[in-house]
Amino acid sequence: MTIPPSIFTITLFLITFIPLSLPTVVNGLGSASTAAITYGTTTVCGIIASEPTQRVQCYQNGQVILVQPNISFEAISGGGNFFCGLRSGGSSLLCWDTSPSYSSFEPRRIYYNDTVKLTDLTVGDTQVCAREINSGIARCWRGSNKGGFNFSSPREALRFRSMTSGSGFSCGILKKDSSVLCWGNGYIGSEIQRQFGNLSMSSLVAGESHACGLTTTGTLVCKGNNGSGQLDVPFSSASEFSGLALGSNFTCAVRARNGLVACWGGSNRFEFDSNAIENISFESIVAGLDFVCGLTSSNLSMICWGPGWPSISAKSDVYGLGVVLLELLTGKRAVFRNEEDVTAGPIGVVEYAAPLILAGGLQKVVDQRVGLPELHEAAAVQVLAYTAARCVSLEGKERPSMSDIVANLERALALCEENPGSLSPATLSTRSE
Ligand SMILES: *[C@@H]1O[C@H](CO)[C@@H](O)[C@H](O)[C@H]1NC(C)=O
Ligand SMILES: *[C@@H]1O[C@H](CO)[C@@H](O)[C@H](O)[C@H]1NC(C)=O
Ligand SMILES: *[C@@H]1O[C@H](CO)[C@@H](O)[C@H](O)[C@H]1NC(C)=O
Ligand SMILES: *[C@@H]1O[C@H](CO)[C@@H](O)[C@H](O)[C@H]1NC(C)=O
Ligand SMILES: *[C@@H]1O[C@H](CO)[C@@H](O)[C@H](O)[C@H]1NC(C)=O
Ligand SMILES: *[C@@H]1O[C@H](CO)[C@@H](O)[C@H](O)[C@H]1NC(C)=O
Ligand SMILES: *[C@@H]1O[C@H](CO)[C@@H](O)[C@H](O)[C@H]1NC(C)=O
Ligand SMILES: *[C@@H]1O[C@H](CO)[C@@H](O)[C@H](O)[C@H]1NC(C)=O
Repeated sequence: MTIPPSIFTITLFLITFIPLSLPTVVNGLGSASTAAITYGTTTVCGIIASEPTQRVQCYQNGQVILVQPNISFEAISGGGNFFCGLRSGGSSLLCWDTSPSYSSFEPRRIYYNDTVKLTDLTVGDTQVCAREINSGIARCWRGSNKGGFNFSSPREALRFRSMTSGSGFSCGILKKDSSVLCWGNGYIGSEIQRQFGNLSMSSLVAGESHACGLTTTGTLVCKGNNGSGQLDVPFSSASEFSGLALGSNFTCAVRARNGLVACWGGSNRFEFDSNAIENISFESIVAGLDFVCGLTSSNLSMICWGPGWPSISAKSDVYGLGVVLLELLTGKRAVFRNEEDVTAGPIGVVEYAAPLILAGGLQKVVDQRVGLPELHEAAAVQVLAYTAARCVSLEGKERPSMSDIVANLERALALCEENPGSLSPATLSTRSE
């Protein structure tokens, strides 16, 4: 199944076992998330982890978009031209259309019930599904107001332990016998279900047209489309693998023993087995359609690789520079613990600082130890901060080029020496190549 990239959506998601807000990139398939990118409308959304209300904020065409209501969400996930959020606690599910004509997104509540709460928000390309926490009943909706097919829910007699979504299909593990059941439009879901047969599963992750999971005895099995060898699990020993990341036509898995990553599928057998990750241990991995990112065990930094990544490699250097600039400005490491909220896990400087800067809250992020900038320095710091925030724009094409950055940094330096001009972020050079 081919999906035009222009309408496909990838989702950034929070690694659930480490409450870490560093956005990591995964395709729009799979499970609960805390941030989402909609390719069709170049919209980036995230849950603001650094404020008491964990509200949703989006950026579109470099503008901060108001996302109402201002309430806390526990997960968001993106589809084609829409994204959805599960309110903290699971009592309501809202979706927003990100069509370019809107300057603020209208919330559309697709579920509300204070007693029957939801979990496991999982968004495919057009469908939205979630699971009732207590009963395990799966509920699905069509994600967008416009177009698309109706996406039916499985029968209420079926109770699920967990769910995942691919392109046009969703699957779940049944409570009663841990078998896999899939539903949705088209052929691939039923084919995946047929291939899993009576296997008893403890986990399941969907890619675009395949799904992999660990059996209850710990063996990794993959089913579905094998057009690129994505089902060809290279090792068969039980309990070898832990984390999984599935893209459009490849599979990567983390070895439980040492954290090393093995990948298969893709255009050729070794496409995703990069030298760049040889001997590196990962805590977890996530996949985009054609690239993988992992959180290293040694220092919790993020490494991304795969054919989809080099195409923005110059821009990913720009991303790295943006992280360094943000570290300088905030006096915080790329991944740090927020002293104001010691109970929370480590958070990423990008997620922490970039939204604040883009929302005009620069003074909140500047390292107190460097002191508040002098008046004429303030403009320079602002140029620097805005440049840094643009550098970490999640879409490569939204990032400024290196020459733009140098020009902005020179401007910042000049500002420190001269009087403050009337420079505003809007006048800065952020043209993309
Ligand atoms: C959201 O609500 C919280 C608490 O009511 C408030 O402190 C915060 O300023 C609000 N944020 C926005 C952007 O309205
Ligand atoms: C919540 O769900 C229960 C059980 O289905 C139902 O009885 C109740 O009316 C629902 N409440 C709302 C506000 O819809
Ligand atoms: C989807 O369901 C609604 C309400 O049941 C119905 O009016 C509509 O025609 C259906 N659309 C499609 C494409 O089946
Ligand atoms: C699955 O289990 C059912 C009933 O337990 C059995 O009839 C069927 O043959 C099994 N299918 C496979 C593929 O093992
Ligand atoms: C998947 O494809 C690969 C080669 O493309 C093949 O070697 C392997 O046997 C296939 N696996 C399955 C389960 O069909
Ligand atoms: C695998 O998926 C990528 C990204 O969607 C695509 O560019 C590539 O052509 C696919 N490869 C094959 C062999 O289908
Ligand atoms: C990985 O480790 C092996 C064995 O220690 C070593 O031979 C190899 O050069 C290392 N590879 C890289 C890329 O560091
Ligand atoms: C973090 O660890 C990775 C892999 O071990 C290494 O490549 C990278 O340079 C390290 N980064 C920092 C900032 O230490």
